[in-house]
Amino acid sequence: MCGIVGCILKNNRKAAPILLDSISKLEYRGYDSIGIATIDNNKIFIKKDEGNIETVDNKLDLADMDGDYGIAHVRWATHGDPNKVNSHPHTSQDEKIAVVHNGIIENYVELKEQLENEGYEFKSDTDTEVIPQLISKYMSKGFDLESAVRETITMIEGAYAIAAICTDEKKIVATRKDSPLIVGLGKKGYFVASDSPAILKYAKDIIYPEKDELVILTENEIVIKDEYDNIIEKEIETIDWSPEMAEKEGYDYFMLKEINEQSTAVKNTLTGKKEIEKIVSKIKGNINRIIFVACGTSYHASLTGKYLIETLAGIPTEVILASEFKYSTKTLDDKTLVIFISQSGETADTLKALEAANKTSQTLAIVNVVGSSATRQANHVIYTQAGPEIGVAATKTYLSQLTSIYMFAAILSGNEYLFKDLNKIPKYIDEILEDTTEIELVSKKFKYADDFFFIGRGYAYPIALEGALKLKEITYIHGEGYAAGELKHGPLALIDQNIPVVVVAPPGDNNRKTMSNLEEVKSRGADVFAVGSFDDESLRSKSDDIFCINPDVDEILAPLVYIVPLQLLSYYVAIERKLDPDKPRNLAKCVTVE
Ligand code: F6R
Repeated sequence: MCGIVGCILKNNRKAAPILLDSISKLEYRGYDSIGIATIDNNKIFIKKDEGNIETVDNKLDLADMDGDYGIAHVRWATHGDPNKVNSHPHTSQDEKIAVVHNGIIENYVELKEQLENEGYEFKSDTDTEVIPQLISKYMSKGFDLESAVRETITMIEGAYAIAAICTDEKKIVATRKDSPLIVGLGKKGYFVASDSPAILKYAKDIIYPEKDELVILTENEIVIKDEYDNIIEKEIETIDWSPEMAEKEGYDYFMLKEINEQSTAVKNTLTGKKEIEKIVSKIKGNINRIIFVACGTSYHASLTGKYLIETLAGIPTEVILASEFKYSTKTLDDKTLVIFISQSGETADTLKALEAANKTSQTLAIVNVVGSSATRQANHVIYTQAGPEIGVAATKTYLSQLTSIYMFAAILSGNEYLFKDLNKIPKYIDEILEDTTEIELVSKKFKYADDFFFIGRGYAYPIALEGALKLKEITYIHGEGYAAGELKHGPLALIDQNIPVVVVAPPGDNNRKTMSNLEEVKSRGADVFAVGSFDDESLRSKSDDIFCINPDVDEILAPLVYIVPLQLLSYYVAIERKLDPDKPRNLAKCVTVE
């Protein structure tokens, strides 16, 4: 839930401006503090403080630091309040070693106690501070930085991506376990980072280190060692994302940019048909059950997957939240295909579930980030082609996940005709984005609401859930997604004129029943905002406000289109409430703790 970067540059280039630029691309991973450490002439320089990058940079002028190598960090606090002392980089007591860390050291209390008994003094409340202290302890016994880091990781338990520097050696030593870390080979120098947007501008050739491999960056080379300290050759992969993809490009916020990129994301994801055909040919006939496993928005994409696969392929399909998966493993077998949906491929809950499923079943990961942990652990991988998503709230990655799921279901069930419809989805999305005035007006009206309900049936139910999640995340308004038919079994008691109800009512068999549910809330005084088809006169007459969508989008296709006005609704309500939709409080893009 933090972001780390390290770089060592050639030709005496100053590292701080590049570290600042790189770490600012990871602000979606944490934004309560920032810090940079560089080394020049065997002296360590550190600037760090609480606040977002802009605030701290205005105060400290972060780019103005000497030294051609260093490390940087953006923090999303887990242990210790967000304040200057708890900000990374953390240093050893003698201030010779500096470390940035993403993850959680689970046994830090015992380690800290032990080190304190040995005379080490601690400044912060963080779990991380034990790392530079341990490195320092081993270096005082004669180890070099590399072996001291190696010894340190035998002591710490938990999840980590670490980058360490010390005043006596011109190198960066980095390593990881259960937290992401990539290594970049650029013309200006060498990099480590939590995620590729940080280094896209400087390095496109990437190495993905595995658990407990040591990465040693010096001015002239990158050395990677396995857990037994043997030097290993790693594959270098080239990423085809451009640096501009990780910029706002004229939009006020990444979220709006990413909502607007959705038709392209769907189009690009549709180009992956051949890869899916290959996977299906390997598993078809060998499975009699499918389980989707995911969290948050990816879980909502999975719910659509269940309806689709059961309808089209007739294979019994379940959906389990990744954090609950370990309680549901008793009946898994080798005829079960477990599909993991994750935009980041680094979500800790999902990775733990994947590890468990790999023991008994076939596994498939649908992931957006190339080379991420899930892609290395699953038996099969489908890449969504959304490009980098920086806004914390998932939008274009959600539609890309759904596109991959629809393609998979169509190929698995032999329903090729579905591709004709899928190819039209980008056009339907663009039609919505052409004119969003209606949604902006509704957002003004709803900005003072305290609670919302979102209701839908069948394929519209996961849309309602996702609409409610987007609202909660970025507007801090309580939004509840409900199956339209379930409302009368309890929550209807809450409905009155103060609660807007968003009714998701695409054309299809379920529409008539949804209309009855709309009447139920309307007669209790609710203000109804409907999303439905242009030619649904009945819906138009019964709703207070309506956003109309092309009538050709029936209920099966609705998840790929109807979510767009709901994303926009949350976005504009957040803007009305003067909130930053890219950085919702308490949340980070990639959740690397269980
Ligand atoms: C919501 C959101 C989260 C993620 C969830 C899983 O907008 O982004 O709910 O969907 O944390 O993340 P991934 O898909 O990276 O596994």
